[in-house]
Amino acid sequence: MKSPANPSPIRSDPNWWKKTTVYHIYLRSFYDANGDGIGDIQGVIERLDYLADLGYETVWISPFTQSPQRDFGYDISDYLSISAQYGDMPLFEKLVQEIHSRKMKIVFDLVLNHTSDEHDWFKESASSRDNPKADWYIWKDGKGRDGRRPPNNWRAMAGNRAWTYYPGRKQFNYTAFLPFQPDLNYRNPEVKQAMFDVVRFWLYKGVDGFRLDIISAIYEDPELRHNPPSLRLTPSDKALTIFFQNLKNNFLQTESFEFAAELRKVTDEFDNPKRVLIGESHGEEELIRRFCHDNGKRGLDAIFLFKAISTPFKAENYRQLLETFEKHFPPPLVPTLVFANHDRNRVISRLGGNIEKAKLLALFQFTCRGIPFTYYGDEIGMPRVRIPLKQGQDALAMQHRWVPQFLVDRSKEILNRDECRTPMLWDEKPNAGFCSDSVKPWLPLAENFREINVAKQSSDPYSLLNFYRRVIRLRNTTPALNEGQMEIANDICNKKVLAYYRTFGNKRLAVLLNMSESAVKNPVGHDEIAISTHHGAETHRLQPFEGRVVRLQ
Ligand code: NOJ
Repeated sequence: MKSPANPSPIRSDPNWWKKTTVYHIYLRSFYDANGDGIGDIQGVIERLDYLADLGYETVWISPFTQSPQRDFGYDISDYLSISAQYGDMPLFEKLVQEIHSRKMKIVFDLVLNHTSDEHDWFKESASSRDNPKADWYIWKDGKGRDGRRPPNNWRAMAGNRAWTYYPGRKQFNYTAFLPFQPDLNYRNPEVKQAMFDVVRFWLYKGVDGFRLDIISAIYEDPELRHNPPSLRLTPSDKALTIFFQNLKNNFLQTESFEFAAELRKVTDEFDNPKRVLIGESHGEEELIRRFCHDNGKRGLDAIFLFKAISTPFKAENYRQLLETFEKHFPPPLVPTLVFANHDRNRVISRLGGNIEKAKLLALFQFTCRGIPFTYYGDEIGMPRVRIPLKQGQDALAMQHRWVPQFLVDRSKEILNRDECRTPMLWDEKPNAGFCSDSVKPWLPLAENFREINVAKQSSDPYSLLNFYRRVIRLRNTTPALNEGQMEIANDICNKKVLAYYRTFGNKRLAVLLNMSESAVKNPVGHDEIAISTHHGAETHRLQPFEGRVVRLQ
């Protein structure tokens, strides 16, 4: 898989991150180079040419520091060393160097909010009420005569109760996610300093920025007020609610936005090249934009906008989505364009296996104003692999084993996150080229891997993979697409078609997306087609589910 050099210029300019394209690697599942059935750092190094050849500039890799792996690295027991199953520090340094030598960037997944309960800090903190780390986590006395009732009604984002009783301290401990991931107490200045030093450690190693895990949870209401009820049972991409509770008092506090500004300052100590901060938060756009800019202070560079994931695949819904993003993230802010990740259903499965829709979505994602994030395997249409809840290795699945499987099967989303984390499909070999034949991959492969894999799609000029390659290259080489202004073409948009203009200097493009299953008249006439999702696109009409970019000037 030898490839030509990435055609895009190295983003040495301070705005590189606004123009970039991000490929999200779930490390355990990308490529196993050391023969244990689990992906590793060496595996990423060996497949970097594949990403460079596709034209991606930034790689975001899921966590690989020391961890008991109960949440596969999102439960950290040591922030400064690498988990042996993934590699070691010299190998990580090699990875950074290999990425940079390809004029690419690396974004490190940083879990600031919580540690593992096996972190030494937590063990010490849990051991008594008066040890030096006693106040490094969030501990509260319980209620009731015996103190065994939780301090308040808070739920964690994973659905469980947010408080766990520790008999050793005779107190409750707070967690925003799973019970083995205790939240750090950022009101303790020692904690903040320790974690800022972790940030500096990795920036010094040369990482180009961070994806900040569950940053929405970094502070909680100091008075521990009860959360109000909500009508929703399941989580929503629009608001932070779960199990009939609005998580208003344990997420998205004013101090969280102030924290973003402090983190900015620490990160800006390393400004050559400029490093990027991208936060993970659910919630209404008008609220979460405060992570980026609040009270006149700059904070994070961007925040994931998950609403796109659950927006119905319809022109009118997408138009509204763009309007919302543009309203709350006008320049110089930048929206993010996210349709999948390691917690959510696979794109192609949400689209009912329809490759034309997948191409259309990719065209949208790479031609809109914003930072596109794509999840490994989406470029070949890797499907969700059905794995019953009861067989889940994922801690969230284990926690929800009681949910009847037929309910899960009916849902558009996944509860067992193993289903979207299955091994990358490289070729037709027995383990799809993910690992050697002599070892069992840590999760099952998609059954149809002989039809859907990188090798096969590489040789098919009309494959989804080759469409990704073309559209990414178009974006990389077209300033109107990677840094131009965007304007929704309200004169063209209708129930079937979503359209927008991208402009840079005197260059103007129109992006036309026919999101319907019937052909429509080309609304802009005879202009030059820069790219189309369809082979043999006709000038006068857009075919069903055809998207195209046309040059207007
Ligand atoms: C969000 C991550 O995306 C998810 O995978 C993880 O389990 C939780 N945060 C907890 O760290």
